[in-house]
Amino acid sequence: MNPNRPITLLWSLRSLCDLACPSCYFGDPLIHQIKPPTKTGQLSHISPHDLKRREVLAFARTLKDSAVGRIFVAGGEPLNWPGILDTLKIIKDAGIEVIVCTNGIPLNRPVFLQSLLDLGIDAFSVSLDSTEAEFNDWMRPDPKGKHGWQDVVDGIRALIAARTQNGPRVGLYTVITRRNIEQVPAMGRFAAELGADYYVPQPIALEDDHPHHAELSLRPEDTSALTDAFAELYAADLSLTLPEGAYPGQVIAGVPRTTSTAVGCFGGRTLHFIQPDGAIWDCVSSLRIDATPASAHRTIRGHSAADLFPTPAGCASDCPLASYECVNMWPLMGFDRILTPTARSSA
Ligand SMILES: C[S@@+](CC[C@H](N)C(=O)[O-])C[C@H]1O[C@@H](n2cnc3c(N)ncnc32)[C@H](O)[C@@H]1O
Repeated sequence: MNPNRPITLLWSLRSLCDLACPSCYFGDPLIHQIKPPTKTGQLSHISPHDLKRREVLAFARTLKDSAVGRIFVAGGEPLNWPGILDTLKIIKDAGIEVIVCTNGIPLNRPVFLQSLLDLGIDAFSVSLDSTEAEFNDWMRPDPKGKHGWQDVVDGIRALIAARTQNGPRVGLYTVITRRNIEQVPAMGRFAAELGADYYVPQPIALEDDHPHHAELSLRPEDTSALTDAFAELYAADLSLTLPEGAYPGQVIAGVPRTTSTAVGCFGGRTLHFIQPDGAIWDCVSSLRIDATPASAHRTIRGHSAADLFPTPAGCASDCPLASYECVNMWPLMGFDRILTPTARSSA
């Protein structure tokens, strides 16, 4: 990453998604239709408040004069939004590294895929929760019943086949739940077989009162299975990059989900989280979002990136509001090892 541009954005660009994952941190659209979210910072796939295309593009045009060096573009599903190619072009023309986080299904459209490749996107992180179609499609269902596991795998294959030698890195992301812990090494092997460059298993983050919490959230009694699964993954000597060696320990330490201090946290200094309505938060921690006073609420709407994200100074801080969501940010901040060839070869 360009040292003069040390800021990373996790930009949830749009709310809509063609999948309706019951454990998604955007919440369940069926429930939200009846009971729309009211809490500050709460996400929803049916948010009527997403920024307008011209507002997104106006902010994107300010990025070239800023300290932002890397953007993870997520959502919702960012690749289904009609404004996506224009937005990505502006970001890439600003000299910023872009990682597109996608459900993988839109990669099956050949003309669209070629347009993405022509833009010089740096990496694609594709979500797949199992080597088994049935479990994946239960975790990541298409309410219209049109798409599923096979389309995601086909999309990954299409991307890998179409890219040139200096083309984008391709990775797989798996949400680890107490029902698919054994999938951690299996998915790593599958990602390597597909020809992916990186693999990230990330722990599920669910509120205690979430309908799937009891069934899916990791518990202290799962730590030995998790330890074994990570040990097998890291020992497999796969031909792809994994999160740095400290990561399994961070996942396991986060399992009891007691909140604690995150030592040396980058949230709010070098990482910022942008929501589809333009709201900016220091990071994804719901505790930290809750603790942000109204006077400190900010938006990208009508503002420039240089003003919103000045170059950070000093050391990373220790955050007393670390939440169970936070552990999933560490792989994002370790992306140099995925995007930088020298970091890759020594990984
Ligand atoms: C919300 S999706 C958005 C991007 C894109 N639509 C996709 O499917 O990857 C980003 C990532 O967050 C993961 N995710 C969603 N809800 C989660 C949760 N409650 N805990 C952990 N990861 C979650 C998804 O599986 C996916 O890998």
